[in-house]
Amino acid sequence: MYTLGIETSCDETSASVVKGAQNVLSCVTASSLKLHAKYGGVIPEIASRAHLESICGVVDEALRSSDLPLKKIGLVAVTQGPGLIGSLLVGISFARSFAMARGIPLLGVNHVRSHLYAAFIDHKIGFPFVGLVVSGGHTSLYKVKGLGQEELLGSTRDDAAGEAFDKVAKILGLGYPGGPVVEDLAQKGSAGAYALRCDCGAGLDFSFSGIKTAVLYKANHLKKMFGSLSHDMVCDLCASFQDAVVSDLVAKSIRAAKSVRARTLVVGGGVAFNGFLRRKLREAADLNGIRLFVASRSYCLDNAAMVASLGARLFRSGGARQRLDLDPLAG
Ligand code: KG4
Ligand code: ZN
Repeated sequence: MYTLGIETSCDETSASVVKGAQNVLSCVTASSLKLHAKYGGVIPEIASRAHLESICGVVDEALRSSDLPLKKIGLVAVTQGPGLIGSLLVGISFARSFAMARGIPLLGVNHVRSHLYAAFIDHKIGFPFVGLVVSGGHTSLYKVKGLGQEELLGSTRDDAAGEAFDKVAKILGLGYPGGPVVEDLAQKGSAGAYALRCDCGAGLDFSFSGIKTAVLYKANHLKKMFGSLSHDMVCDLCASFQDAVVSDLVAKSIRAAKSVRARTLVVGGGVAFNGFLRRKLREAADLNGIRLFVASRSYCLDNAAMVASLGARLFRSGGARQRLDLDPLAG
């Protein structure tokens, strides 16, 4: 079966055609990132208007480059939330119309779950596993016993990890989004330069707002002492911050796997694009005898391939409701 996936939960308009659940025939993504950059974060109204402008072209291009006749598409899977309501509505309205016009089923897919299962596109992964979703909106650990059987083990009490990267970048005047630029500058800095740590409670919850404030205080202190922040200071702050966040994510993921006796760890979400996090996860997993599967970089940031892939799996398993009156936020 061929599935058309549509994702519009935030600032990416994405469409993808997937054969079965793993063979991605096309994935086309347009981003309105540049329109938000000057505001230092995503402006919901701008994002939904940009989705409206690009959705037809993006779906068209995904269908065209899949080289499939339209009649071959047997299912539409669309992100049903959580996300920005206006943005979700554009994707869901389009998906609903497409499904009605073609007379095919429509399935809503939870956005966090689509990140959780994104590594399944390129890997054969068995159950049970512990899953870490680490993105701009979410930082959560799950115990997953089977498809659709996710039990929340811990999540952030305040900011998500990606949000912390974005806020630290803003504090340091590095623009939006923060993840890529902070990672880049961190490579030139020293992680031991400043003593920054995340609030590491003994449980499996996360907290990243404290470290963001610590970076702010440190930056202000340095500015007071030296008049301004040098490039080296910025690089050292990025490296120290990234090291603290990554150490916390890795330590809690391993702790979670051990606490539920899972031998497999699966990671997805925009922050999983980060090379330092990927390396540290690999080292810790090897050290602890845990099988690690991190989503391929193409499927870390918001994309419709992960939506189509999970939609196809859920549809096949029969565990999903197909309906045209999808509630955009009930994913
Ligand atoms: O999954 P995603 O595309 O959207 C959400 O569902 O939130 O993740 C976006 C987040 C942003 O906060 C961005 O700064 C972060 O992922 N990100 C990174 C990197 N690339 C993107 N964080 C750390 N290192 C990166 N290289
Ligand atoms: Zn996402």
